[in-house]
Amino acid sequence: MRADACFAERDGELFAEDVPLRVIAERFGTPCYVYSRRALVEAIDAYTQALAGRDALVCYALKANPSLAIVRLLAQRGAGFDIVSGGELARVIAAGGDPARVVFSGVGKTAAEMQQALDAGILCFNVESDSELRRLEGVAAGTGRRAPVSFRVNPDVDARTHPYISTGMVENKFGVPLAEARALFRHAHSSAHLEVLGVGVHIGSQITSVAPFVESLDKVIEFIDALAGEGIALRQLDLGGGLGIRYRDEQPPSPADYVRAMIARVGRRPWKLLFEPGRSLVGNAGILLTRLEYIKRTPQKSFAIVDAAMNDLMRPALYEAWHDIRAVAPRAQSPETYDVVGPVCESADFLGHQRSLSVQEGDLLAVFSAGAYGMSMSSNYNSRPRAPEVLVDGAACVLIRERESLADLYRGERLAG
Ligand code: LLP
Repeated sequence: MRADACFAERDGELFAEDVPLRVIAERFGTPCYVYSRRALVEAIDAYTQALAGRDALVCYALKANPSLAIVRLLAQRGAGFDIVSGGELARVIAAGGDPARVVFSGVGKTAAEMQQALDAGILCFNVESDSELRRLEGVAAGTGRRAPVSFRVNPDVDARTHPYISTGMVENKFGVPLAEARALFRHAHSSAHLEVLGVGVHIGSQITSVAPFVESLDKVIEFIDALAGEGIALRQLDLGGGLGIRYRDEQPPSPADYVRAMIARVGRRPWKLLFEPGRSLVGNAGILLTRLEYIKRTPQKSFAIVDAAMNDLMRPALYEAWHDIRAVAPRAQSPETYDVVGPVCESADFLGHQRSLSVQEGDLLAVFSAGAYGMSMSSNYNSRPRAPEVLVDGAACVLIRERESLADLYRGERLAG
């Protein structure tokens, strides 16, 4: 799925599907997140079609974008969900998703979250340590239910991505080292309060080649085969998320090619296959729409100061991530080079450095590939209300999240005296 298909230029201006971004800015103001329903549908369908005929479940990683309308849309197209908190579970349920299709990942699940997930009847807990296993066993014993578990193993594979989003190496906090996993399986297998379903792995995010996935899968298959030799037969293999998207010139495998490569490795083994994609489902289905407030020229460089900032889209500040930035209606003038920055009082508050744009003050800009880890990582820093979200479907657009009001900013606060 290419962002270009759903956010394309027509008659000199950018559209989201059949709606001019100009019209969305007029109706909903800026900054504003805009998503394409068609892009979302194509992305989830690409996974499910590639898995047709297999016992498999695509568990959308909610952290990429937990907006209820998006969760609902993906649920309607058959997705399950990968959650990492009680808050995300509440969102799945509020959006009408099926808890029986939820896997619960993360290294720090609280007892209350375990209880909540057991009560909801989730598909499985992806357990990441011995201490967590003991806690889960205790919580399950208290409820009289068996907790379904899968162990997330750490295969010690280099995902060749940004160090902040690499998770499958021994120095990372994630997963149980393969060498220690066996003991946990044995314990869980013998427990009256636990039901062992399988094994999971997630080696990182924005991975742009199949090789690290294959390397990790091969290690996990070897591990499962060895367990079977001990009489512990697993039913489920969770391959995690992590498939990258094109932000600039990356050439990641398509979801279909990636899924096929994984299936080819698994062969005829009868495991239910789970995937936990986040970014590759929503990343290129969204843009951040922003207005150019000021052009500021200094002897060194020119700044395009826009009304979106690092609190709206944190990825450039946090990972020096590159997002394409285009004028919604480029002017017929030769382009100039700008640092595109926001109003927040930090030098890390930039959306892009040294971008060539033909723009004037008041023009609209679109920041591409903002559907994943955009809104979900936004904050109120500098007391900035969070942006609204709009879902476009053909020529229709609906507001799926209101812009926060100024009163929302201090809701729940008390004057001490
Ligand atoms: N499963 C688990 C256990 C995860 O930790 C993650 C992402 C996913 C699935 C989904 O991964 P994806 O398919 O989206 O790569 N904020 C960063 C990305 C952090 C990813 C954290 N875990 C960013 O903006 O690049």
